[in-house]
Amino acid sequence: MRTSQLLTVPALVATLLLSGCPEGEKPSAPAPTDAPSAADAGVIPAPMQAFKDDGAVAELALEGDDQMRFNKKRLTAKAGQMVRLTLKHVGTMPAQAMGHNVVILHPGDDIFEFGADVGKNGGSLENNYVPDAVRGRVVAFTPIVGGGETATVEFKMPDKPGEYLFLCSFPGHFGQMNGVFVVE
Ligand code: CU
Repeated sequence: MRTSQLLTVPALVATLLLSGCPEGEKPSAPAPTDAPSAADAGVIPAPMQAFKDDGAVAELALEGDDQMRFNKKRLTAKAGQMVRLTLKHVGTMPAQAMGHNVVILHPGDDIFEFGADVGKNGGSLENNYVPDAVRGRVVAFTPIVGGGETATVEFKMPDKPGEYLFLCSFPGHFGQMNGVFVVE
């Protein structure tokens, strides 16, 4: 019957609205199907939006592992740019044994001298191996992370273009865990 169909549709909509998810719970994604749904068409993937080159924040990611390695030797940003740098420890060893951080030095500094000075000036897990005596030589640094942990630091890169060396200042790591942060 026509009349009953007209009544049924709003009633169904009301039922769907009332059966919404409980507060605080995300709606579950629809079950995957072989054919892409029409709703997916034309949606720009999130990473493309995030990395739109509008000169705003440089989103940088670096990984450290249980073999005392960074996965990148080179990072780049523009002079004066805001940077959000995330360090992820992809290994499993604890910070006490295989801790990593990222320390960015001003141009002209030396990673070997810096690493030695961290040791001479009481570098420890408590100060993230960046003791007060060496802070003036540092553009920015992340805390020390252990296996499975992630740390993020946000900072403004200096206005001076050049090559800024970066290193992990955990004892004995700087010789292998280092790279160049190129500021254009
Ligand atoms: Cu390290």
